[in-house]
Amino acid sequence: MTTHPTSARPSDAPDRSADAAQRGADADWWRQAAVYQIYPRSFADGRGDGMGDFRGIISRVPYLRQLGIDAVWLSPFYPSALADGGYDVDDYRDVDPRIGTLEEFDELVAELHGVGIKLIVDIVPNHSSDRHEWFREALESPRGSNARKRYIFRDGRGENGQLPPADWTSVFGGRAWTQVPDGQWYLHSFAKEQPDFNWGHPEVREDFLRTLRFWSDRGVDGFRIDVAHGLSKDLAEDLPSAAELEEIPKDGNHPLWDRDEVHEIYAEWRKVFDEYDPPRIGVAEAWVETAQRRAKYASPKGLGQAFSFDLLEADFEAEDFRRIVSDNLAQSAETGSSSTWVLSNHDVVRHATRYGLPPRDGRPGKQGADWIMAGGPEDEIDRDLGLRRARAATLFELALPGSAYLYQGEELGLHEVADIPDDQRQDPAFWRSAPGDRGQDGLGRDGCRVPLPWTRDGSSFGFGEDGSHLPQPDWFAEYSVEAEEGLEGSTLEMYRAALSRRRELQTDETLTWDEELCRGEVLGFERPGGWLNVTNFGDSPVAVPEGDVLVTSAELESGPDGQRMLPGAATVWLRRPQR
Ligand code: GLC
Repeated sequence: MTTHPTSARPSDAPDRSADAAQRGADADWWRQAAVYQIYPRSFADGRGDGMGDFRGIISRVPYLRQLGIDAVWLSPFYPSALADGGYDVDDYRDVDPRIGTLEEFDELVAELHGVGIKLIVDIVPNHSSDRHEWFREALESPRGSNARKRYIFRDGRGENGQLPPADWTSVFGGRAWTQVPDGQWYLHSFAKEQPDFNWGHPEVREDFLRTLRFWSDRGVDGFRIDVAHGLSKDLAEDLPSAAELEEIPKDGNHPLWDRDEVHEIYAEWRKVFDEYDPPRIGVAEAWVETAQRRAKYASPKGLGQAFSFDLLEADFEAEDFRRIVSDNLAQSAETGSSSTWVLSNHDVVRHATRYGLPPRDGRPGKQGADWIMAGGPEDEIDRDLGLRRARAATLFELALPGSAYLYQGEELGLHEVADIPDDQRQDPAFWRSAPGDRGQDGLGRDGCRVPLPWTRDGSSFGFGEDGSHLPQPDWFAEYSVEAEEGLEGSTLEMYRAALSRRRELQTDETLTWDEELCRGEVLGFERPGGWLNVTNFGDSPVAVPEGDVLVTSAELESGPDGQRMLPGAATVWLRRPQR
């Protein structure tokens, strides 16, 4: 048996055992929370205009409660021209009128809190939108003015400054610099509508502290920090070329990404978080080189938690899953944070689809991106296998110590919608890249952002009264809440059962691999209290050990001697008889 001593908390700190009644009441509520991500424009449309909104979410609070999650993470709902699905923010302290009002936001907080669900909101500090009042002021102000200094403006190269200050490419493809009418250029790491802030400017820093307090005062429990590794930059007069940038290690000194001094910003944020009781929490989206670099974001002196995308990037493979779990648990033991697990979010191909794709180039976990790049051929998906594996992986994830971040629609077993006609696509990543390039890093992300199906029929499968802003396929009917609700063995019922059991069973953040079970394509681990998770990553059935079955991702089979067998691509949770 290999035990992971993952409880990194100092021995004099309070016990974090998750007594159901106490959940949510203490400052550690986030450590092992099941957090459900809502992409507000695609969750539920209460106003009947084809766009999801707060009224829609409020009307579905009973659904969220029944699902059994601990917290909601809301993707951006701020005023935005939607150049990047709302990650282009016009005003950080307001609500997009198409989504609702501040009063409705307050109502949503109250409704969620009323049923014991916490709320995390998305903060986008690396860049604003080009419609933000500061950026508009910058455009109207002369070179060298204070207004320009809040962003990253430079003169161009070439005789008349007609060339960008550097030949960099944005994350979404295309140039990272755009020229303004007076000839200067501004930096945008993402779309051109997303100018990067200059975090060396004290007003930028102050303003975000104000934003954190603004939402904390309204009752939000925490923040998901977008592109947390991008804020600090070191842009010397002579900028490196794109090729030179590539060569610079991302070890804290890279000019653009994951610079050490970014943590000074988060130390300030921590002070704001700690002004509240319970302290507000932060979870960093930081795409960094190593687990050690990630740990800095998860420091209790900083944001406190960081997403690990390791599982999301892995294939459905026993050895990889085990290594990832062990590494991540060891890492959190060092930082004192808890581990995070993610299989799907609004930027990647849904895991039911990824797992149903044939592997490409022997690269596990990259099939989703490759597949989108190839135009998302539907006939390549083995939908049944993908979903079986996705359900097994989800149960595995939910049995792990730490927080599980779930993405709306995965509880229905939704697949990616691949065949969205080009003229209906919204993702700038799709439009900014040449057709041959589509598919890298989040390109073509509309397929996981299609509005959810609530009913079997209706103009938008119950999403709202007047269509949906991205087209829904016919097969959504059979994945709708209505189709799955109360249906034994449905994905929705599996999630409900698992989340409810998890709440009951979650105790210390420890895990013990069961070496007897961990053979070949099978992984078994035990959590305190006799909670045993067995996952079969292979194709052939394996014998189920002794114990009461709590939840399964697939029906157990009967072996030759009447023995209970776990089929391939399946997970079972058991309660081990206590010896
Ligand atoms: C993050 C978001 C993504 C967005 C990007 C730019 O990666 O998750 O959706 O496009 O940041 O804000």
